[in-house]
Amino acid sequence: MKEKKTLLVAFSTQKGGIGKSTLTVLMASYFHYAKGYHVGVVDCDYAQFSIYNMRERDRQIVTTIDHYKLMAYNQLKRTGKKIYPIVKSTASQAIDTAEQLIKDSPENLDIIFLDLPGTLNSEGILHTISTLDYIIAPVSADRMVLQSTLEYAALINEKIITTGKGNIEGLYLLWNMVDARERTNLYHAYDTIIAELGLQVMKNVLPETKRYRHELTEEVKPVFRSTIFPADKRLMRGSNLDLIADEIEQITKLKPYGREEQ
Ligand SMILES: Nc1ncnc2c1ncn2[C@@H]1O[C@H](COP(=O)(O)OP(=O)(O)OP(=O)(O)O)[C@@H](O)[C@H]1O
Ligand SMILES: [Mg+2]
Repeated sequence: MKEKKTLLVAFSTQKGGIGKSTLTVLMASYFHYAKGYHVGVVDCDYAQFSIYNMRERDRQIVTTIDHYKLMAYNQLKRTGKKIYPIVKSTASQAIDTAEQLIKDSPENLDIIFLDLPGTLNSEGILHTISTLDYIIAPVSADRMVLQSTLEYAALINEKIITTGKGNIEGLYLLWNMVDARERTNLYHAYDTIIAELGLQVMKNVLPETKRYRHELTEEVKPVFRSTIFPADKRLMRGSNLDLIADEIEQITKLKPYGREEQ
């Protein structure tokens, strides 16, 4: 099989609680189970390891609840896709961990999503960030969050991108938790400021919605955020996950193995 570089992408910003881990899981599962890419995840969120732990919980549910067991079996039969690997790492060693994961994977990985802590306070983390291909910084329309994200983006720009040292091909802001009633004027004003700073913003935004609470539990219900299934179609509607995934595909010019020569 033809060797192709595995893309390294992180939803990353210094602000906490803004959707980094959530987006990592939603996109990893959507790219892997729904779009057919081969995905890997490196969870570097030390102490929390929220994605790694979610996988443990998901696995527990899927092996004990018949409904989900069958769903997983049918998914495997239909797509031929096993669950994607999620490995723990420190932030400084994340690239080595990703490379090891690429080596260990029986399939050629198309994309690895890394969930990083929000600090830029060590050489090791700066090295990790500079080795990524794309950084997507989730942000919400809250002055403090926006300010903190703009600082983070400016720092990455200044320390890595403009020095020409790293691999970073793109740094994008992504509006999350968008309140439909607030949209338009406010966001347009913010988008103008962001553009004036020379930063890019993703066109599609993620609405604020209650569906984010729907995880795999013992109760049988449509699932939104899981490491074993993509978001349920019924919950996808209006979530913009599909549009965000398409936009990421476009930005990164991602093409799965075997499709590029058709
Ligand atoms: N668009 C959204 N609508 C509603 N809730 C959301 C949305 N995006 C994220 N959330 C919720 O916000 C909370 C924080 O998300 P998450 O844990 O992914 O953030 P994080 O940036 O990884 O935080 P941390 O800094 O603690 O790692 C979660 O409860 C998640 O369900
Ligand atoms: Mg997190």
